[in-house]
Amino acid sequence: MAFATIELEKKGRVGLIRLNRPQALNALCDELVRELGTALNELEADSAIGAIVLTGSEKAFAAGADIKEMKDRGFVDVLVADFITNGWERISTVRKPIIAAVAGFALGGGCEIAMMCDFIIAAENAKFGQPEITLGIIPGAGGTQRLTRAVGKAKAMDLVLTGRMMDAAEAERSGLVARVVAAEKLLDEALAAAEKIAGFSLPIVLMAKESVNRAFESSLAEGIKFERRLFHAAFGTEDQKEGMAAFVEKRKPVFKHR
Ligand code: CAA
Repeated sequence: MAFATIELEKKGRVGLIRLNRPQALNALCDELVRELGTALNELEADSAIGAIVLTGSEKAFAAGADIKEMKDRGFVDVLVADFITNGWERISTVRKPIIAAVAGFALGGGCEIAMMCDFIIAAENAKFGQPEITLGIIPGAGGTQRLTRAVGKAKAMDLVLTGRMMDAAEAERSGLVARVVAAEKLLDEALAAAEKIAGFSLPIVLMAKESVNRAFESSLAEGIKFERRLFHAAFGTEDQKEGMAAFVEKRKPVFKHR
């Protein structure tokens, strides 16, 4: 399928989505969000795909929601359209692992969609921020919630209330980013991580992702119980037998359910 604002490529078992509105630093207009949802649906449905990478350009992952498009909207418009919830949250409901490969600006909604991914690999030139306050609004796609869970109250308050940007080193130090790499290595690193994940047993990968996510939505006791149930369920899969037999036989496992 041809898209106007994104590019979709399949590389081995990895689906690569590139945000592609260079004239607007990949600002997230309605069309882009719609196309992103369509691409994610396609990758979710494709059994040949085991993991996804979401990236932008060298200059911008995404500079936020499209300000020109939303500037004249009123309260009733955004309420009735359920602006932001509608469409955007699709990223957070993707069941296959999704890695954000971030270079350049990840601001406002750009930072928020990166945080909806499972983890962020950042180029050294990446800049993260929630500058909504400078526009007379507050973050609307999880910026006050996911950022606070990722970096803690002090830094989240600092970023959300001042609108300042933080660089990749600060983002890694504060726990927002999993790895920082040289800009020219960003895509290779993200694709290699995704390919590695896509080589494991898909049902087990889904369980692992679901269990980590549960940590954000439950008490420790409930989360541990949830994890234990999935852990036990893993023993009901052929891939557990294969993974452990391969270890004992000193060979590479060949997982059936990829
Ligand atoms: N929406 C629409 N257009 C945008 C945009 C955005 N979020 N960000 C950049 N652009 C456009 C600019 O208007 C400009 O277009 P023109 O050439 O037609 O003027 C083009 O992209 C290039 O941008 P700049 O000339 O500004 O580039 P720069 O290198 O000087 O600055 C920047 C880069 C610091 C990222 C600056 O563009 C900027 O501050 N952008 C806005 C960032 C922002 O406030 N994001 C939050 C949006 S609100 C939001 O996301 C709500 C939410 O929670 C979901």
